[in-house]
Amino acid sequence: MESLIEEAKKCQEDAIKEIESASSSSRLMEIRNIYLSKKGRLSSLLSELRNVEAKDKGRVGAILNKAREAVQNAFLAREKQLKEEEMKKELEKETIDISLPGRNFTPGTINPFYLIRDEICDIFASMGFRIVEGNDIESERYNFELLNMPHDHPARDMQDTFYLTNGLLLRTQTSAAQAHTLEEDLSKGPLRIVSPGKCYRRDDDDMTHSHQFGQVEGLVVGKGVSMADLKGTLALFVKKMFGEKRKIRLRSSYFPFTEPSVEVDVSCAKCGGKGCNMCKGTGWIEILGAGEVHPNVLKMGGYDPKEVSGFAFGVGIERVAMLRYGIDDIRRFYQNDIRFLASFHQED
Ligand code: DAH
Repeated sequence: MESLIEEAKKCQEDAIKEIESASSSSRLMEIRNIYLSKKGRLSSLLSELRNVEAKDKGRVGAILNKAREAVQNAFLAREKQLKEEEMKKELEKETIDISLPGRNFTPGTINPFYLIRDEICDIFASMGFRIVEGNDIESERYNFELLNMPHDHPARDMQDTFYLTNGLLLRTQTSAAQAHTLEEDLSKGPLRIVSPGKCYRRDDDDMTHSHQFGQVEGLVVGKGVSMADLKGTLALFVKKMFGEKRKIRLRSSYFPFTEPSVEVDVSCAKCGGKGCNMCKGTGWIEILGAGEVHPNVLKMGGYDPKEVSGFAFGVGIERVAMLRYGIDDIRRFYQNDIRFLASFHQED
């Protein structure tokens, strides 16, 4: 009996010593299992109580229980301590160094392509043009046939085309919007529209060509609309876009959907018309194609060419942006280089 008491005391001492020196929660759990679990040392001492004589059972039992209680308390205290220490360590590990510079969020800017597209549209809207949306995917009928380019027309070859497998195509020119607008206007009354959008051609990309580019198409139809109206409208557009001093020059050209057709040049901003490297010594830079709407186009659109006439034009968006901002390579519009994009800020 005395040896049982001795053993209990020894066990209590050992356990408390070990508990106090446990350096981690996992080690503490191991110690707990050794002393306090069902098969642990203290439990097996308690089970020996049945061999103790009845008269001493109460006293010895109380000693054993006390020992167990003391170990249990020591365990709980150390457990709390260790948890706190471990939590502290964890928090220290997770501390955020607020002296580190934060991540940079660069606010986006509008691509100059869209700045100029909107500016072109605004200028024409201020002259009473309505803005209509076209389709990127077109049928041959709208992209070619209704623009006086039947199936075997050689002018189709100049617009190497992306055909889709369903017989449709990516439009090669915004002129397709002309055909839609004429057809959709059931009143067959006067029209004044611009239609901005992307065009696609199987071009090899270089400094001035891209397989994808933007145009703004213009179309005016009404009684007595003449080349003089075309010239006056485009001269005003050029002054608003490039400045009061810019002049335009019309050069005879050919488009299947206009007759007569012209190419329109603007006087060179760099040399003022004297001739320089920018205008290749000519003093002029081409910016768009235009002409009087071909009678066949009017007829196919349901208009009577004996009653009405019209003019049309197609401006290259990148071309205008390149001249306006002095951009040297069309591919820059599509490369998403932040240094390039950030140099264009919208004023408001
Ligand atoms: N569609 C022509 C092209 O992509 C540009 C053009 C020329 C449009 C004359 C017109 C026009 O409306 O009248 O090359």
